[in-house]
Amino acid sequence: MSLLEVRDLRVEVEGKLILDGIHLTLEEGENYILFGPNGSGKSTLISSIMGLPPYRVVSGRIIFMGEDITDKSADYRARLGIAVAYQNPPEITGIKLSDLLKLCLGKDPKDDFSSEEFGLIEAFNLKGFLDRDINVGFSGGERKRAEILQILFLRPKLLLLDEPDSGLILRV
Ligand SMILES: Nc1ncnc2c1ncn2[C@@H]1O[C@H](COP(=O)(O)OP(=O)(O)OP(=O)(O)O)[C@@H](O)[C@H]1O
Ligand SMILES: [Mg+2]
Repeated sequence: MSLLEVRDLRVEVEGKLILDGIHLTLEEGENYILFGPNGSGKSTLISSIMGLPPYRVVSGRIIFMGEDITDKSADYRARLGIAVAYQNPPEITGIKLSDLLKLCLGKDPKDDFSSEEFGLIEAFNLKGFLDRDINVGFSGGERKRAEILQILFLRPKLLLLDEPDSGLILRV
């Protein structure tokens, strides 16, 4: 059984067909890189796999670990173990990065990070960002680092990284 199978997927947004018959098979334990020109639909494919609006599947199926998730909510897919690091992570005013990281770990905001978790925060050079609102005033590379760390703490089965290109030199 493949980890993910995208079968003949057609996706539209605002009445415009963006993906027209996409086939993609991903196997567990493998890394894949998807190349394509700007506007060719890479981010749209990722959003469609995650089940995010406003993307609408017109036809085709998305199968994750043998289960047809084409009509499932993004929340359901996240609980199955699919995660996305977004090309443009949003700013979230009023929530500290440390609180979100603890949520990702399944901890209460009152809990402390373990020494291993804190080691990763330091490796990502994000110690000084823990008390800041999520992504507010972060540089592009800092946003990417924060995004990747959140995702690592979620421990997903399928991790979709949308252009994780800048600022990701780690000190580990
Ligand atoms: N919400 C939307 N409303 C209207 N058009 C959209 C929307 N989302 C995507 N599109 C269009 O769909 C096409 C595919 O966009 P997408 O972001 O998936 O491309 P991409 O391959 O990720 O490009 P890039 O390399 O620039 O990140 C583009 O023409 C884009 O303008
Ligand atoms: Mg994109």
